[in-house]
Amino acid sequence: MPKRVRTAVFPVAGLGTRFLPATKAMPKEMLTVVDRPLIQYAVDEAREAGIEHFVFVTGRNKGVIEDHFDRQYELEHTLEIRGKTEALSELQKDLPSAGQTSFTRQQEPLGLGHAVWCARELVGEQPFALLLPDMVFRAKPGVLKQMMAAYEEMGGNIVGVEEVDPKDVSSYGIVARGGGPDSGFRITGMVEKPEPADAPSNLFISGRYILQPEIFALLSEQTRGAGGEIQLTDAMQVLIRTQDFTGVKYDGRVFDCGSKLGFLTANVVFALDRPDLGPDFRKALGQLGLLDGAEARNSEPA
Ligand code: G1P
Repeated sequence: MPKRVRTAVFPVAGLGTRFLPATKAMPKEMLTVVDRPLIQYAVDEAREAGIEHFVFVTGRNKGVIEDHFDRQYELEHTLEIRGKTEALSELQKDLPSAGQTSFTRQQEPLGLGHAVWCARELVGEQPFALLLPDMVFRAKPGVLKQMMAAYEEMGGNIVGVEEVDPKDVSSYGIVARGGGPDSGFRITGMVEKPEPADAPSNLFISGRYILQPEIFALLSEQTRGAGGEIQLTDAMQVLIRTQDFTGVKYDGRVFDCGSKLGFLTANVVFALDRPDLGPDFRKALGQLGLLDGAEARNSEPA
């Protein structure tokens, strides 16, 4: 039985330059898909997978993330006296318990590998999950939970992957696929942001990982890779010489909310999915002529 994964790391130090001016004074992780911040989706997914310790690697101007995962007594009190008990209990449900969160800072923007390395003292000598909060998934059960099932069977390191259009491989980390089913196949190699001609497949690393603590020593030795940054994928490509890496092509799909197109699409899809909002939103889009025939018919009043 592999050692249980109790801790998850959330790198949230990025500057969010692709979303300026929205991110000038607000962390990009607080941008909302419908009414929940991106970071809340990642934390919810981790809790669903059994995570008990939430480690945030933050940076300057990210204090509001820490506030988001704290009680807000004035607000709670106001909701209580106004009798808004449902909103109050929803807010309380979103919070990790006292003592379950830890925060550290990445002092310089040296890349994802460096951000993960900054969590080493808080994680310690144990396996951990890593969730990139830009990547929001529509998946049931959640992607990390699906990966935990593979981890419990295989141990080692687990990487969530999804197919990408071959022309877009150079935006992501790409894995080489060995034998085994979609629910757990052997990864034989990884490369960060390859040119389409050099990509070993079209399976991209979509921002969910379960990693063994030996990655930290490799990250500390890592020199700068693609884009002049310390790359996590490069350290994994070294670790794979001595440890197993299993790919999970999960059920579900990702929305890359670090891009405007992915973010906008996620907002529409998640809003249409919501039982409290979907029917009216579908109707409103239909009235604007923005849905195709099938969707528009669904939006007609019964
Ligand atoms: C990072 C990883 C890359 C992964 C991607 C998913 O890249 O280095 O392997 O595919 O996240 O979002 P970044 O988005 O930081 O350039």
